Amino acid sequence: MPLFSCMKPYKILSVVGARPQFIKAAPLSKAIAASDNLTEVLVHTGQHYDYALSQQFFDELGLPTPQYNLEIGSGRHAYQMGQILIKLDAVLEKEKPDMVVVFGDTNSTAAAAITAAKNNIPLAHVEAGLREWNKRIPEEINKMLTDAVTDLYFPPTQTGVDNLKKQGVTEGVYLVGDIGMDLIINNLDKIERHKNLLEKLSITEGSYFFMTCHRAGNTDDVGQLEQILSIFDTIKEPIIFPIHPRTKNTIEKHGLQHYLEKKNVVVLEPIGFWDTQVLIQNAKMVLTDSGGVIKEAYFHRVPCLILQKEIEWIEAVREGWAKLVGSQSSDILSGIRSFERPTVWSGFLGDGRTATRIVNIISHYLKNIDQ
Ligand code: UD1
Repeated sequence: MPLFSCMKPYKILSVVGARPQFIKAAPLSKAIAASDNLTEVLVHTGQHYDYALSQQFFDELGLPTPQYNLEIGSGRHAYQMGQILIKLDAVLEKEKPDMVVVFGDTNSTAAAAITAAKNNIPLAHVEAGLREWNKRIPEEINKMLTDAVTDLYFPPTQTGVDNLKKQGVTEGVYLVGDIGMDLIINNLDKIERHKNLLEKLSITEGSYFFMTCHRAGNTDDVGQLEQILSIFDTIKEPIIFPIHPRTKNTIEKHGLQHYLEKKNVVVLEPIGFWDTQVLIQNAKMVLTDSGGVIKEAYFHRVPCLILQKEIEWIEAVREGWAKLVGSQSSDILSGIRSFERPTVWSGFLGDGRTATRIVNIISHYLKNIDQ
């Protein structure tokens, strides 16, 4: 504990690196700044470095400029993780935080978790406990590695709590809700203010499809990606498709651009958070392989087809708001045709106060260690 009582006693080091983590870290950063006893050092691994995938979110979501950027960039997973282990180790040695916080399931998450554990620094995992039970999915390996060394688990859903229990973890588990929902629930006015995007794109409420596709399983296998893109030949409504660099790379490398040249297909560079919410909120249907987009479609009560065979947000499927269709074009098209809008909506993702809960639990935990 420091000598001066006006100083906040505990230092949290949060590690972000990829787009979904900026979204999860923003509400927590704000709650830490407002807390009486926590201060934050923000580290960006540099896994995402393009403006559209990184700085755009810092600007929009009011995330502070990171004190450190490890600039690891792109590369094979082992390279990315190895670079983080080496570079974050030096930061941890210098900063000596009381706790490291990681978010979600990217390579940055798992590598930072291992580095914290190797330094014997308590670790909190925001979005702990989610599983797809398929180790061929890179994110699944990251989730399992991270949860193996976590001290404070913050699952967003009861399913997360149950998954941890299945793996023998019951201590230090706190069901806190989904932190991504904090941003949406507390900023509905901002989403409303971005609504003129519909006009700019010449689309109207409930008359278009919103699609995203970037998971390795879909984009690294060109046959699978072509199956997905070939639905554009059949769909007549406008399709708004912000394109991830990894998907764009595969499309260009394999000459699939002609699928994007259809009149009703609107390809955008990766867009910001508020614009994404507007496009999801007003879509007739969402087609995606992104966990974040699935949750957001659920929140906005928009039907969603999941371009995968497994999903962590199983509640959305159980309630009928999302359907697992995979990547075969015939399955996607029949999913579109047969979708029936459900009547139940439990709001299982939380109430917009997740970040505050996490901050309170972390404060309490660190005070207890100190005593
Ligand atoms: C990563 C996460 C994924 C998350 C996604 C959000 C892992 C294993 N995957 O996937 O869980 O849903 O972020 O977007 O951590 N690239 C750029 N500019 C960038 C970043 C990447 O052009 O700023 C390109 C590079 O060609 C790179 C490829 O995208 O090789 C893949 O990037 P990478 O960070 O490895 O994974 P994502 O696909 O973004």
